[in-house]
Amino acid sequence: MSGKPQVIVLPDAHAVAAAVTQRLVARINESREAGQPCVLGLPTGKTPIGVYHHLVHLHREGSLDFSHVVTFNLDEYYPMPADSPHSYHRFMHHHLFDHVSIPPAHIHIPDGTVDDDKVADHARWYEQQIQKHGGLDVVLLGIGRNGHIGFNEPGAGPETRTRRVQLGATTRTDALADFMDAAVPREAISMGVGTMLDAREIILMATGAHKADIIHQALTMTPDVTVPASFLQSHPAVCVLLDEAAAQVLNHETA
Ligand code: F6R
Repeated sequence: MSGKPQVIVLPDAHAVAAAVTQRLVARINESREAGQPCVLGLPTGKTPIGVYHHLVHLHREGSLDFSHVVTFNLDEYYPMPADSPHSYHRFMHHHLFDHVSIPPAHIHIPDGTVDDDKVADHARWYEQQIQKHGGLDVVLLGIGRNGHIGFNEPGAGPETRTRRVQLGATTRTDALADFMDAAVPREAISMGVGTMLDAREIILMATGAHKADIIHQALTMTPDVTVPASFLQSHPAVCVLLDEAAAQVLNHETA
């Protein structure tokens, strides 16, 4: 292992959401005080919903300003209309963007509607936008049961950048519940592992016993493309926040 992720284990998912919120709020407020934008990489999925709920609450209370926050979502299904109930555009607006003071021009989400032959150009543009905004200050990540971060499926290494990706069987099975009667897309546009590793700070959150094995692997194995999240070990500022259930295999080994 070339880095040493800080691992924080908390009693339950509520405590994890509260702790992650506290970290994000600290960064958002520090940037505001410094007169700088705060550039965030954001995930969708079940894991961060509690965090978005807290951020909305703090904003409504008047204690959190988003006018200097710039966001880049990690991924979007492809193809996917923005107004589809399954789109990550819809997810982010529903859980966060519609309820806080972020200027619409500050929101970036990979576009699931670009023409087939324009996806590579769009992906390059997405990377350029991240650079133009000074790079990601903080990227918040969940983790898939197969070790994906964003939609970087097994096989994706630290050289990867925003691009079109194929979704594996585990990821598509796990998405079934969200799609009900519609077919789960086979592809997505995802920020790369390399894009994430360039962030100044990484926060990985995982909750639930179904994440325990992959968390153990990602944090203890020699980094390898079979588990893309294992490359996070090499980042100098990564913090992993887990509930007891997600930490149980890790705890068992270190006990
Ligand atoms: C989604 C994303 C994915 C999820 C992961 C975990 O934008 O980046 O990597 O973080 O699939 O999903 P949940 O939180 O639903 O278990």
